[in-house]
Amino acid sequence: MSRNVFVLTGAGVSAESGLGTFRDKAGEGIWARFDPMALATPEAFARDPRRVLAFYDARRRNLLGAQPNPAHHALARLEQGLAASGGKLTLVTQNIDDLHERAGSKDVLHMHGELLKARCELCDAVGPWTGDLTVDDVCPACHSVGALRPHVVWFGELPLHLDEIEAQLRRADLFVAIGTSGAVYPAAGFVAEARAQGVATCEINLDAADNAFLFDDARYGPASEIVPLFVDELLAT
Ligand code: OAD
Repeated sequence: MSRNVFVLTGAGVSAESGLGTFRDKAGEGIWARFDPMALATPEAFARDPRRVLAFYDARRRNLLGAQPNPAHHALARLEQGLAASGGKLTLVTQNIDDLHERAGSKDVLHMHGELLKARCELCDAVGPWTGDLTVDDVCPACHSVGALRPHVVWFGELPLHLDEIEAQLRRADLFVAIGTSGAVYPAAGFVAEARAQGVATCEINLDAADNAFLFDDARYGPASEIVPLFVDELLAT
């Protein structure tokens, strides 16, 4: 049985909860309908903060009405099952939603940040934020006006928790990527790092990822069906 399992999730794990993916074969993903350079960069925020905030307000409202699906629940079960047998799950997500936590996962590394948090650009304080965010809001920590932004990583910014992620990647004996297109680095490069260390790699996805050739094993289908079966398999061996 694999004892140290490293799971990287992407938008595909939350697709069946009603949260859109960014890229898909049908060309209907979020970035086919909205320009990421106008909505998800520090420059866009400096230029037109109201437009950027409105985009994230809509996504936050959508998230508050969504529920975790069987894939999220299965990963919470994997965390408990591995811990009970002396192992460990490292769950790294590119998703800014909180559906892993709401399904019961205790330890989640959000490398692209969290939509239900706001950060102050002046004092760097990060705190919970479930309502809309406006240019008039006051930072609860330093009381500055107009310096709050969604606690999410934008294009051109460094992802979060990279040191911890690297350390856990080195300890893994199985690497699994779920519902991610393998298009955005550094996350898309984790599988190559795992391989270079001789770690077994598995892809679970609806469509083959851009880096599919780097995986030893692949299971294609909806995450809500494939992930629970995969977790059953892992916990049974
Ligand atoms: P993408 O939208 O690029 O890819 C979603 C993946 O999920 C694709 O491979 C789909 O085939 C797959 N998928 C869709 N529905 C699925 C389902 N029901 N079950 C399983 N798989 C399914 O999303 P990410 O790879 O997560 O970054 O995108 C990476 C980053 O790009 C995001 O974190 C975001 C975006 O720009 C930032 O905003 C910084």
